[in-house]
Amino acid sequence: MRLRNVKNKEEILNNNSYVVKDCFQYIGNWKNEFKNDSPIHLEIGVGKADFIINSAIENPDINFVGIEKSASILALATKKIPEGLSNLRLINIDATEVEKVFSKEIETLYLNFSDPWPKKRHARRRLTSKDFLDRYEKIFKNKKIIIQKTDNSILFESSLISFSQNGYIIKDISLDLHKKEDYHNIETEYERKFSAKGNKIYMVKVEK
Ligand SMILES: C[S@@+](CC[C@H](N)C(=O)[O-])C[C@H]1O[C@@H](n2cnc3c(N)ncnc32)[C@H](O)[C@@H]1O
Repeated sequence: MRLRNVKNKEEILNNNSYVVKDCFQYIGNWKNEFKNDSPIHLEIGVGKADFIINSAIENPDINFVGIEKSASILALATKKIPEGLSNLRLINIDATEVEKVFSKEIETLYLNFSDPWPKKRHARRRLTSKDFLDRYEKIFKNKKIIIQKTDNSILFESSLISFSQNGYIIKDISLDLHKKEDYHNIETEYERKFSAKGNKIYMVKVEK
């Protein structure tokens, strides 16, 4: 995602109540931050956060945390959030730090239109590479559920291989999500852009 630098991004993030500033202090204690025992779902790479905001609105009994590495993008995302969403938090960190923020407390992880890193020499940077799946092992509570959407066939193929090599089982899959009848889809910003161009959307839900 290419984006101009948002000049006052730090100020915007510091003053926004949805953005958790000292996120590392909550490790293992996110239910105290949310003040309830509802399941916690995580999205990595929220972008402008359409998916996680609408997920939080539609599912008040689930707590949603979104990670985004770009402060500028997250600053723009905060402008879209309606007031009073007590089940939503956002964090400005890179996914490489995820296991310093959560410990055995995440029930579902969403990876929506993650950067594909199509070159082979960058494959380890994909958010479904073994390096990242190993990090996620430490953050999941019991059952590990990952739901990925992308329009990128290289990323999708490598993710399916990585999931299966790391013990995940496919529970649901589509090579054309928008034609799938039994799926309640919450669109992301990139999904809207790519499907408007005629790209097919791939989806896989895996469990371990
Ligand atoms: C292609 S955009 C997709 C945004 C959104 N998920 C959507 O579908 O509209 C990918 C986003 O992931 C973020 N991102 C990429 N790598 C990341 C990482 N390692 N940690 C956190 N965020 C990351 C990027 O900054 C960007 O905002």
